[in-house]
Amino acid sequence: MGRVWLFIPLAVSSVALGPVVAQDAANTSSGTEPVTFTTQQDHQDMMRQLGITALRPGRNGDASKPNPANYDEASANPCPDLPDVLTLKEGEKVTTPEIWWKRRRPEIVEDFEREVYGRIPKDVPPVTWTVAETRETTVGEIPVVEKQLQGHVDNSACPSIEVNIGMTLTTPKDAAGRVPVLMMYGFSFPGGPGARRPGAAQAPPRPVAPPGRGFGPPGPSRTEALIKAGWGYAMIFPNSIQADEGKGLTRGIIGLTNKGQPRKPDDWGALRAWGWGASRGLDYLETDPAVDASRVGIEGVSRYGKAALVAMAFDPRFAMVLVGSSGEGGAKLHRRNFGEAVENLTGQGEYHWMAGNFLKYGTAESSFGAKTPCDLPVDSHELIALCAPRLTFISYGIPEKGDAHWLDQRGSFMATVAAGSVFRLLGAKDLGVGDDYRSAEMPAVNEGLLDGQLAWRQHDGGHTDAPNIEHFITWASRLFGAPELQAKSSPGTP
Ligand code: GCU
Repeated sequence: MGRVWLFIPLAVSSVALGPVVAQDAANTSSGTEPVTFTTQQDHQDMMRQLGITALRPGRNGDASKPNPANYDEASANPCPDLPDVLTLKEGEKVTTPEIWWKRRRPEIVEDFEREVYGRIPKDVPPVTWTVAETRETTVGEIPVVEKQLQGHVDNSACPSIEVNIGMTLTTPKDAAGRVPVLMMYGFSFPGGPGARRPGAAQAPPRPVAPPGRGFGPPGPSRTEALIKAGWGYAMIFPNSIQADEGKGLTRGIIGLTNKGQPRKPDDWGALRAWGWGASRGLDYLETDPAVDASRVGIEGVSRYGKAALVAMAFDPRFAMVLVGSSGEGGAKLHRRNFGEAVENLTGQGEYHWMAGNFLKYGTAESSFGAKTPCDLPVDSHELIALCAPRLTFISYGIPEKGDAHWLDQRGSFMATVAAGSVFRLLGAKDLGVGDDYRSAEMPAVNEGLLDGQLAWRQHDGGHTDAPNIEHFITWASRLFGAPELQAKSSPGTP
């Protein structure tokens, strides 16, 4: 049988602050050469820009270590009232879809962009996709066509930073027409962001599993299930878009748009950059005759579960999302004091996922005093609400099998419940358990709430969404209509 993937929270150390180090970095002076910072230097540079002198330390996943994460429900909700997703900032209630689309949704988008995930610059250079290789092969004995793709980002504004997005597309060879496609965040590949393999013309490298990490790989069972159901899948490689580390922020797509200079506080972080990359992948899929571009979904687990939710929230062309074990920074409420905390995300190991401004909510000491997660203008129920009324499936496993409490399944369930009113306002169905996110009972493990466009299911496996894939496919196919029927009526179908 398959391997068990254990999710082991990273031990996160506290942040010790020294003087600002921007000046010490290798190449800061000319403004034309990319800056080379260490992660610590980049983190401290952002603190300096924000006027922060001390951050609170992240929680420790190990209960025997100092400052352990809280796992007691009694103290899990220090600020139990969430920002009301259907009340405008000026106090008016959102009573029609029109008020949602024209006024409330833009308010929420603005808050997430400025304070949480960062803004995509207006002038991101264009991406040119090439099909490096097309081959016929099989997945679970079904003949498929597999394309290796590369999205080259125009880097004429800063030639020393090269970004080539790696993606593969696999579709059933004998499909009757265009097929739905699930885009999945794959794993990093040797060489890092923008790297071109020696001797490999333009072909993006094939995926390799990350060494020793506990997040679930794109297992054959998921891809087989998709192909068997008559779907296709695309595998996109986050590290080819943006490196997964603070010192990479002056490189990759974020670095390219800043011409190698450090980020400003509201610039995008890696989650937004990975979301942007998925959108560029979707640009390609819209041009591929095998794909029904009106039924492309996005999927990821763990940090890529966060990225999948961000991609879906900000790009309305994605028709569906499978958010696997996303935890803090994903579907989990930031305001919850349970498992991983905002203070983990603001530390050196993870701050690069977020906008610089997010650091403010982990502040112990600064020119503006201290802020806590309760000061965030938005919370994750509103990120889920940005996906409405499209198909949104929030997935978890169980702690006993390695999908640790660290992820706060309950905090994510509460956020999903609290997002429901927006789905209903827009004519979709939510989880069907009411609006009281504080006391709503989680369904039993393996009992999904799959009737609506907003769905929840906790499977009895570990840190992966593989055991939920069949449920996801059945749910999405039902809500879209069976793929074969849809394919016949899709535009462009022979
Ligand atoms: C860490 C982190 C999580 C993240 C996970 C992963 O454990 O605390 O937020 O989801 O890594 O992506 O592997």
